Amino acid sequence: MYYDDDTIEQVRSSNDIVDVVSTYVQLKRRGANYVGLCPFHNEKTGSFSVNRNMQIFKCFGCGVSGNVFGFIERTENISFPEAVQFLADRAGIKLPEKSNDGYDNSRRNLKERIAAINKEAATYYYRMLRSGEGRNAMQYLKNRGLSDETINSFGLGFAGRYSDGLYKVLKTKGYTDEELATSGLFTINEKGAYDKFWDRVIFPIMDQRGRVIAFGGRIMSKAENAPKYLNSPETELFNKSENLYGLHLAKKTKEKFFLLAEGYMDVIALHQAGFDNAVASLGTSLTERQAKKIMGYTDSVIITYDSDGAGKKAALRAIPILKNVGLSVKVLNMKPYKDPDELICAAGADEYRKRIEESVNGFDFEAGILEETHDMEDPDSKTQFDHKLAETIAAIDDPMARHNHIESAAKKYNIDPVELKREVNRIGAALKVKENNEREKERAKATREIKPEAAQKKAEYSLLNMLVCNKNAYLAVKDILKKEDFAGETERRIFEYLTNDYERVGATVGARIVEKFESADEQKTVADILMTSDDFEETSEDERRMAFADYVTGVKKSAYDREVEEAMRIGDGAKLNELLMNEDSLEALRKKLMNITL
Ligand code: UTP
Ligand code: MN
Repeated sequence: MYYDDDTIEQVRSSNDIVDVVSTYVQLKRRGANYVGLCPFHNEKTGSFSVNRNMQIFKCFGCGVSGNVFGFIERTENISFPEAVQFLADRAGIKLPEKSNDGYDNSRRNLKERIAAINKEAATYYYRMLRSGEGRNAMQYLKNRGLSDETINSFGLGFAGRYSDGLYKVLKTKGYTDEELATSGLFTINEKGAYDKFWDRVIFPIMDQRGRVIAFGGRIMSKAENAPKYLNSPETELFNKSENLYGLHLAKKTKEKFFLLAEGYMDVIALHQAGFDNAVASLGTSLTERQAKKIMGYTDSVIITYDSDGAGKKAALRAIPILKNVGLSVKVLNMKPYKDPDELICAAGADEYRKRIEESVNGFDFEAGILEETHDMEDPDSKTQFDHKLAETIAAIDDPMARHNHIESAAKKYNIDPVELKREVNRIGAALKVKENNEREKERAKATREIKPEAAQKKAEYSLLNMLVCNKNAYLAVKDILKKEDFAGETERRIFEYLTNDYERVGATVGARIVEKFESADEQKTVADILMTSDDFEETSEDERRMAFADYVTGVKKSAYDREVEEAMRIGDGAKLNELLMNEDSLEALRKKLMNITL
């Protein structure tokens, strides 16, 4: 099922990592690296580094690293072969048919296998809903006002009435228990194997490309002890904090904005009513990654959360997250209905359209809630209101917008504009200090993490780094160094790979070396090593040579110490003598290395 090494290498070298990452992350040049905000974790300062020479990336905040394939695997949530296909398309390379004789790499395959199981499951649930066993479930959906067309276009289904229906079907298709367990759709233990979903209406969750990655299942009776909805757990394929329900459809909308709802049924009802720009964060509180994802398709959002207390709270939390990624935000008033589904069922699509027109901007919504929760006639409560309002205004990033809100709020709420402005600035300054402190902390953490604990490790890392970057460096030491001179297995393998590359094709690339390591742990170590570069662009030729000589002799010295220790341990006197005779040769080596051209 895999492409051969040459094909993979052709695709990789045709997709410069800085160019590819730039379409997802805003990068700034800093020294030898390009730096930006990590797309894989939430951060305010850029710990995410991309190195053009090495063609790899690494985040010093969350530790994720890899080459251009690894980056695409994560951002597009696809498997390795799919990433190869994706990048081949990007570079206009036509791939040969996949060959079946390649090795099978389980980590790379995991996402694909989970995707295959999800697809089988979706088909099973889909058929079940349309079978005799699914009659009640179908009736339930019809009673909730869904048309056949809607039921089909969202791929809705039914998990049969027995607790191992899906399990049995997938077993006959040859899936192992281990594979099935990774999909999160089964509980498998000593007592037996059970489907996670049974006797529930099924909502397949798709990623933005329309591929099923998880499920939600709704109970059809009034829930007593059981939860109303069950959802797939997070898997290699399904990351709750970045997924949005309905995105694969909403991304095709002609509207200039997105509707952001809470639940499955809201999105479905909205789409059925003609609002094809609805997505949902599925009950969990909205994350920065979801906001960024929305930002990839539109620049403005109308929050259409539930009208109850929880919904309002969720909206208040979502507003700054959406604004911070640069989206403009409005909030739709649902009252007296509970959620979009109810509003549309009770009052119709036209009423909902009217509510869209009447939706208020995020700031007015926040101010409105403050107003509701404070007694504006009571001086103490009003003062508290004024302070909270100032806080809300201080959170606005754009100075012009902040100024305008100060002016209009002062008028509207009868606050002295000078006092309001002073308070906003005071809070703003305090916020800045807090942000700076956090930034400092993040930076300190990042530097701690790049600094290898031991000088020896630093020497090994830096040496490998220079050998990969610089062929002259390799030529200077090819007869001096052997892989056993490195202490760790990963370091030895890197040395072996770069040697092979130089000897066979006369060149090597960091990104290709990363590719040879299968486990995520190893890849991380490799990226660490390859990113351990002193900023040689800034240093002189002499300094560079001196550093190189130090690293080589440092690595040799450690290897020598290990050998001496070993000879002493096993009592090999002859070997020990031989080693001690050679002790002086390290100085000679250093002198020799000081004369090479790098
Ligand atoms: P709601 O309770 O608002 O449900 O939860 P809903 O979407 O209106 O569903 P219906 O109309 O009663 O069928 C909003 C979302 O929160 C998640 C689901 O994603 C749901 O759509 N949720 C809710 C759960 O995951 N588990 C639950 O038990 C409840
Ligand atoms: Mn509902």
